[in-house]
Amino acid sequence: MSWYKEVEYIRTQAKKNNEFFAHSLPMIASENVLSPLCKEMLITDFHGRYAEGTPGNRYYEGCKYFDLVEEKATELAKKLFRCSYADVRPTAGTTANIALLKALIKPGETAVVLDLANGAHISFGKFGAAGIRGINLVSYPFNNDIMNIDVDGAVKLIRQIKPTLALNGQSVFLFPSPIKELAEAAHEVGAYLVYDAAHVLGLIAGKQFQDPLREGADVMSGSTHKTLPGPQGGMIVSDHKGDTEQDKSFLRKLSFGVFPGVTSSYHLHHVAAKAIAYAEHLEFGEAYAKQTINNAQRLAQALYEQGFKVFGEKLGFTKSHQVLVSIGPGKGKDAAKKLNDAGIVTNMNTIPGDTDPMNPSGLRLGTPELTRIGMKEPEMTEVAEFYKRVLLKNEDPKKVQSAIQEFRKDYQELHYCFKEHFRGYDYHELV
Ligand SMILES: Cc1ncc(COP(=O)(O)O)c(C=O)c1O
Repeated sequence: MSWYKEVEYIRTQAKKNNEFFAHSLPMIASENVLSPLCKEMLITDFHGRYAEGTPGNRYYEGCKYFDLVEEKATELAKKLFRCSYADVRPTAGTTANIALLKALIKPGETAVVLDLANGAHISFGKFGAAGIRGINLVSYPFNNDIMNIDVDGAVKLIRQIKPTLALNGQSVFLFPSPIKELAEAAHEVGAYLVYDAAHVLGLIAGKQFQDPLREGADVMSGSTHKTLPGPQGGMIVSDHKGDTEQDKSFLRKLSFGVFPGVTSSYHLHHVAAKAIAYAEHLEFGEAYAKQTINNAQRLAQALYEQGFKVFGEKLGFTKSHQVLVSIGPGKGKDAAKKLNDAGIVTNMNTIPGDTDPMNPSGLRLGTPELTRIGMKEPEMTEVAEFYKRVLLKNEDPKKVQSAIQEFRKDYQELHYCFKEHFRGYDYHELV
């Protein structure tokens, strides 16, 4: 018996998935699409090769060309984040966070962090990496009115409990965090401030959100495939210069956290694609980040005007790529499913006050991918209309899906990436 039909089955599902996304409205805030030149790197021979260590200091031979690529990726990352230290090896945002927890805190020590219900990511939670590392977690107070950390309460908490780390960063991230105040308090008690920029990395690099490294964060981690539209992966940056023995030791610990801490070989093809993504973001990132945020703000406003309850109303709804909508107690899951049937891909999300993460009351929407395919403010008003038809007017999702497929026909090209090498290649086709 030949197993080839299984191969065909898998290829068919991949093609169908490509078609579904090419004719839908992908609005998951953590997702994005890869530029053709980034994709090209993923099928090079870098895939599957080994390169433990750092350029010029390898356990394995055969790294001559990869060393040059990693050096270039690191150089471009430092330029993009205007800093003196960059590690492009982490294979995911979560891996970067685990590396930092290994580097900077010991089991039994204390970190301050946001609660999951207030937007934190599981890697800094009790059931994620922080819990596995055996860290004692204490929650920042949160102010629902401004959808942000209660800065006075948080500063008081840091001074009182003197944690080893102040952890910041959110999966629901509407407004910049008060990093300056938190970093001052953390440094006063000898703690480092870690900023997890997973979601907002591309907005920071595009100079349209906050600038954590200038505001006092000692180190920043992030995913390289969200608002920074590169390959799936992670990275770590810092502006510590290593100019004292203590500072040198800090940077050594960061590096050791990644290897031998949490990586062996680290997906060389992704590092090459990260290098391209950094170059593309240096070229197009400011315009892309700006449009992504403008789109989120217009979408939020349009949804609000249609009668949806949108968070952050007093502050203009959002200053990021995200919009958080309240759908009604426990109704987030059903709403996300209906939207998916119509071809609008989002995710159910907890909102402040939710206690059951599997039955949340909200939806989190993101504009990074719609922006990449060329949509601007007027299109956001049209997108909001589709939400109204599915969720407020309860129209048949299949009927709305036909209208969405028609609407999407005009948005098939990728923007904010190099096109002179665009070889008539449709990014939705399998490479
Ligand atoms: C705040 C935050 N940190 C870390 C991560 C994990 O990133 P990754 O999926 O790259 O592991 C996420 C994922 O969405 C996130 O929202």
